[in-house]
Amino acid sequence: MTSELKALFHQYFGGNPIIAFAPGRINLIGEHTDYQEGFVFPAAVQFGIWTGVQKNKLPFCRLYSMDFGEEFTFDWKSFSPKKGHWSTYVMGFLAQLKQAGYPFEGFDMVIGGNIPLGAGLSSSAALSVSIGTALSQLFGLKLNPLSISKYAQNSEHQFAGVNCGIMDPYASAFGKKNHALLLDCRSNQHQEIPIDLSEYSLLLVNSNVKHSLADSAYNQRRAACEESVQLLRAHFPYFQTLRDLKNENLNEVEKLLPSSLFPKAKHVITECERVQLAANYLKQGDLKAFGKLMNESHRSLSRDYEVSCPELDFLAQKAWEFPGVLGARMMGGGFGGCTINLIRKSQIKHFQDRIGSEYLASFNRQAIFISVEISSGTHIVLGLD
Ligand code: GLA
Repeated sequence: MTSELKALFHQYFGGNPIIAFAPGRINLIGEHTDYQEGFVFPAAVQFGIWTGVQKNKLPFCRLYSMDFGEEFTFDWKSFSPKKGHWSTYVMGFLAQLKQAGYPFEGFDMVIGGNIPLGAGLSSSAALSVSIGTALSQLFGLKLNPLSISKYAQNSEHQFAGVNCGIMDPYASAFGKKNHALLLDCRSNQHQEIPIDLSEYSLLLVNSNVKHSLADSAYNQRRAACEESVQLLRAHFPYFQTLRDLKNENLNEVEKLLPSSLFPKAKHVITECERVQLAANYLKQGDLKAFGKLMNESHRSLSRDYEVSCPELDFLAQKAWEFPGVLGARMMGGGFGGCTINLIRKSQIKHFQDRIGSEYLASFNRQAIFISVEISSGTHIVLGLD
């Protein structure tokens, strides 16, 4: 991809760009906890977004997207990102830099990537982080990975309309080869946990659906958690977010919340505990115990948090019944995208054949199987000569 992008850049704009790479992410466990300052356990993957840039000394920025085969030009002194177009991610990031007072000028940019679309591997976070890494290098801004993650998250809030947490850009910025990040979304600090799955591996199954309610439901879930926090605040001293509660508080919480809110709060509270247990099990190499937590996480997301869908429930259920699978659950925001499966390597072919045909028969859709390798976070792949 680096040499393809370089050649295309030369053809479009002339000159030699700086090229940055930022990966997509998986999440081992810890879903819908980041925006309640909870714990998550993501890792960067081998797929990602490449961004080539160079200064152009012009009053405008010229962009080219390899995926869309499309050019876009805007005035860098006065621009307004609009929801729904890929260029929003460039202007959105730039708007954050402008607000923070960083200097920049006109540039040319080519963007290309290989993240399977609609799989829930956070291509938009990877896009923002890749743009941020490239611009930081181009203008000598020395942005650290946490600032890049926060600008990426804010850009998503302000210009894409999704009130997401920090997990996706953080994993893309900080990822480490063969390690998952046990991230505390209150302190925004992580521990790198080595991932050694011996004869097992992580396999994603892309359901190939994205239900249209996904973004609005995401924002509603987040709002429901905030409502619970307001109601619980008076009763628990030192309480700030659902992350501050433990499984042992659940009985009390149930009495304090209406039945519409309690299951949602319960998911966040129990999921935070599962993440910490999961990290301990992985440190000890207890893959079986880790797999059981993945299954519990799915049930909680489906029944209590209500962010699954028939396709994901089907794929998780079939995986649970399959010999050689230690755990399976929906991954990411929900309402479509992937399941993540911990499966014995020798069983993968058989699993793909069986689940693929059962899924096709039930939903008339093709499931797509994606093997993931845990890889490094964002970096410059080509500097200035
Ligand atoms: C999306 C969001 C993340 C996180 C997950 C659910 O990927 O971008 O911040 O909330 O959903 O865990």
